Amino acid sequence: MNAFQRMNTALMIDESKKIFKVSRRAFVDPDILEAERAQIFDKCWLYLGHSSELAKPGDFVTRSVGGRNILFARDGKGDLKAMLNTCPHRGAQVCREKHGSAKSFQCFYHGWVFGLDGTLRSQPGETSYAEDFKARSTSSMQQVARFESYRDLNFICFDKGVESLSDYLGPVKEYLDVICDQAEMGMTIVGGTQEYSMRANWKLLTENSIDGYHALTTHATYLDYLKATTGGLAQVAFEGSARDLGKGHAVLEYKAPWGRPVAQWIPSWGEEGKRELSRLYDGLVARFGKQLADRIATFNRNLFIFPNLVINDIMAITVRTFYPEAPDLMKVTSWALAPKGESPEFRKRRLDNFLEFLGPGGFATPDDIEALESCQRAYRQAGDEAWNDISKGMPKAQPLADDEEQMRIFWREWDRRIAEAQGLSAC
Ligand code: FES
Ligand SMILES: [Fe+2]
Repeated sequence: MNAFQRMNTALMIDESKKIFKVSRRAFVDPDILEAERAQIFDKCWLYLGHSSELAKPGDFVTRSVGGRNILFARDGKGDLKAMLNTCPHRGAQVCREKHGSAKSFQCFYHGWVFGLDGTLRSQPGETSYAEDFKARSTSSMQQVARFESYRDLNFICFDKGVESLSDYLGPVKEYLDVICDQAEMGMTIVGGTQEYSMRANWKLLTENSIDGYHALTTHATYLDYLKATTGGLAQVAFEGSARDLGKGHAVLEYKAPWGRPVAQWIPSWGEEGKRELSRLYDGLVARFGKQLADRIATFNRNLFIFPNLVINDIMAITVRTFYPEAPDLMKVTSWALAPKGESPEFRKRRLDNFLEFLGPGGFATPDDIEALESCQRAYRQAGDEAWNDISKGMPKAQPLADDEEQMRIFWREWDRRIAEAQGLSAC
């Protein structure tokens, strides 16, 4: 009997009483993690990387995605490839560097050599193999079952029969467009990666990334710091809402109370900065009209793409993924996304924010980690009847940005994929 059969469902939903609860066992049970690997990470589109990370033929990165090591490379023709980074001979990891530029990849175990697209080129002792050995597809590195991209964001899926990335994303594409259209010359990942871990279940970071409710209390220190150093937050109401984008995807879009290097000025950025931002803003208006230009320039977006990609378009733009290592341990990776051709001053402001707010040594992430790890510690002691409450905003027709609707969107999809796959459904 597995975890779900024992508990029947991870959710307790009562629409009439406006109650939505999640079992704390969903954060600690190893059987649930196994079910997540099979029903979610093996079946959903997962973010691999940005095209700008591989600027020229031969560039590559290796990273762990959905529990597998992936070699992401630009081949000699300039095409992007996503390969399982395991040798077809006996399984060793072929490329052991995190990133770099190569002409070919050689497995260190017995020395097989593969081209940039994973095709076997040569192997020691070739005469001992059948004549057509090299030409067989099983002799080359295996491509990931599905590999597609949208606006230079590259995704993979281990399920060959999955719907197209475009269909999977659906209305998410509108928000990706709003984010990517900030740049006239396209977006780029700024060199460097933030990697850290948390002693907490991976779903706690999903929740936290789309939880507008915690900002004022958990991040009081950062808000105080902003007030003290930037001359205060912009005088805008905290207006905005959560939107269900289908298939577990959700977005919070709200008026930014702070400066945005794309085109929302604050006094501490000076007159020079004001001129630069009004030039950027005029460019947005010329390209998209005033309404969309205002939305791009003055609104923040916390975009959640099921199951574990978060794009925070706040001051800096952070692209973040996180994977479970164990029920109570996750590894997080973050990259800074920025417009190509940005002025050095605004690139610096953007990166300062990337470090000071969302970075692992910044003002926000350490507070979030402390909160999430303290929740996880409590779940270890939880009895079977222990539930988390995420009902905030349920009585409203249009929940606000600081309600918990977006978390309910995630959990409904999570439950559909896991509990329903086992013939169970939320009660
Ligand atoms: S395992 Fe790679 S060459 Fe043998
Ligand atoms: Fe936070």
